This record gives sequence, structure tokens and C-alpha cells, in this order.
Amino acid sequence: MLDQSTVAIVRESYALALSRRPCLMQDFYLFLLARHPDLEPLFPRSLARQADKFSGALQLLLSYANAPDDLSRALRRLGRDHQGYGARPEHYPAVIDALVETLAIQLGRDWTESYETAWRGLLGFVGAEMLAGAANAAA
Ligand code: HEM
Repeated sequence: MLDQSTVAIVRESYALALSRRPCLMQDFYLFLLARHPDLEPLFPRSLARQADKFSGALQLLLSYANAPDDLSRALRRLGRDHQGYGARPEHYPAVIDALVETLAIQLGRDWTESYETAWRGLLGFVGAEMLAGAANAAA
């Protein structure tokens, strides 16, 4: 479950980072692929489009936070689709770390412990739901 304060902190920090760096999500993919070049073949489309989609999903999930059943269903479906994209359980920590670090680098001195905790809480929840969806699909 996502609590409202986690969602509020993520929203606030995401808005701040995006206002300073509109192409933040592209930075995230570049950072991810620089660190894990083995993941590059999984992403056939342009990184800009991929970044838009990821960003759209993040906004959507923040807006769904009051409807946990719908959110869980949507994330499980996304996780099932990700199996088809070649995403494996061990890739999730790599993606989560790359996103948290991109945000931390962007916000610099304004990055706080509470931002770190809220983002890791949110993305841990998202990853767990997506992996549960993928596991169900595989069963
Ligand atoms: C942390 C949670 C994640 C979220 C919220 C997320 C979000 C998304 C979204 C919204 C899309 C577009 C979906 C669509 O077009 O149907 C997508 C596509 C994709 N994601 Fe993720 N993703 C996550 C984790 C991962 C992981 C761990 C990998 C593995 C490296 C991954 C690899 C991909 C690939 C390969 C595509 C499809 C690219 C394409 O065919 O254009 N994602 N992701």
C-alpha cells in the first residue's frame, strides 16, 4: 500500500526535479544504459519516446494512489507486459537505483533523506506489484 505522505513527497520532489530539468527522464535512461549496457538491446524504440512513456506511467500512478485496487491491477498488467519486453526480476533494482540516483544528482543539495525514503518506498511497491503480475502470468 502507498501512504499519502509518500505520494505527496514523491510528487513534490518529482515536480521540482522536472521544473529544473525537463528532460530528466531521458537522463535516467542514459544513466541506466551507461551503467548497464547489457540492457540496451531490450529498448528498441527511441529513448525519448521511452522516457515519455515512463514519465506518463509515473504521473498516472501518482494520480491512482487513492484507488489501490485499480493501481494494483494496472501495475500487475504492466509487469506481465514487461516479461514480454525481456525484463527480469534482477533488472528491477538496476532501474530503481538509476532513477533514484538520477533524481538525487539533479536535485543535488536539495535531495533529502525523506525524498530518498519516499522514492524507494514508491518504487519498491511498484516493482513488487509488477513482479507479482509477471509471476502470475508465468504460472
Ligand atoms: C520500475 C518500474 C517500471 C516502470 C514503472 C516501467 C514503465 C514502463 C512503461 C510505462 C513502458 C511502456 C509500456 C507500453 O508501451 O506498453 C515500459 C516499457 C518498457 N520497459 Fe519498463 N518499467 C519499469 C521497469 C522496467 C525494467 C526493470 C525493465 C528491464 C530492463 C524495463 C524495460 C522496459 C522495456 C524493454 C520496455 C519496452 C520498450 C519498447 O518496446 O518500446 N522496464 N516500461
